[in-house]
Amino acid sequence: MNPELGRLLLDLLGRPYRLAMGLHALELRDWLIVTGDHAAEVAEKRRLFEAGADIRRLLPEGVEAAAETAALVEAHLAAHAPGVQMDATIADPLTRAGLAVQEDLCLLLASPEGYRLVGAFVAFPSRWSLEEKIGRPMPAIHAPVPGLEAAIGGPVRLFFERLQADRPVWRVNWSLSDDPVLHQPSSAFRRTATEVTAADAGRQLWLRVERQTLRRLPETGLVLFTILTFVEPLASLARDRRLAGLLADRLGELPEPMLAYKNLLTRRPAITTWLRAAAVA
Ligand code: HEM
Repeated sequence: MNPELGRLLLDLLGRPYRLAMGLHALELRDWLIVTGDHAAEVAEKRRLFEAGADIRRLLPEGVEAAAETAALVEAHLAAHAPGVQMDATIADPLTRAGLAVQEDLCLLLASPEGYRLVGAFVAFPSRWSLEEKIGRPMPAIHAPVPGLEAAIGGPVRLFFERLQADRPVWRVNWSLSDDPVLHQPSSAFRRTATEVTAADAGRQLWLRVERQTLRRLPETGLVLFTILTFVEPLASLARDRRLAGLLADRLGELPEPMLAYKNLLTRRPAITTWLRAAAVA
């Protein structure tokens, strides 16, 4: 397992579940990371892009910030990952940046309704699409997440207003999917045919963990949100017995609406049985 994923899992699973912002200070040198899957993932992004998948959107109010993003990505790679080159032949800055890094990139601009998504290069969404989110403000983007607005809508809004360019943060999100493919672009994207069983859950499911960062762009003042998605077979995660036990604990704490949102309501008993067995094996 990637060591960064190991760290994210401990943050995620090491304390009781609670719908929270879960933000941590981020050193700028750790902003974007390059894992052993870099070449494969940027190749997959390029394949999707060339096949015409809807992975790049840019509204006029995001154009300058997209150029600023590309410059920051280029400087970051030069300083911290000199082996990774940007493709200078790609004229569009957002595409050049998006195809250089494993991270998905989102640009948000302040508006009276909250910060709005005005630009994005998102190849590996976890069951959402740019079609449904572009141009929308944060509360609308998060509308499908049960209880989010009530629990943390206010703090999220304040955080965006106060975010400073030199104080970036990271957070982590997770889900369990019955498909390991990275590009899962719509809420309808589900292989519901798979019935998860207590005997086989480890081979039927993949843990998707998103390492997310937020920083304010110093020049244009927009907020840049990045998402790096790890996909790990549940079985390989559970080779660490402690992690299997912790994940079972966390699943047990999820409220029903959140379980339903994560497509786990009917699957939880089987997954929990499998994890508990793995935790003592
Ligand atoms: C402090 C910042 C943020 C917090 C605390 C937050 C929190 C969350 C949480 C808890 C979920 C549910 C994930 C799950 O449990 O499976 C979620 C989903 C999501 N978030 Fe955020 N988020 C933040 C920033 C953003 C930003 C900047 C974007 C910009 C695009 C974004 C886009 C989404 C999307 C698209 C989903 C999936 C919604 C759906 O199912 O349609 N989030 N977020």
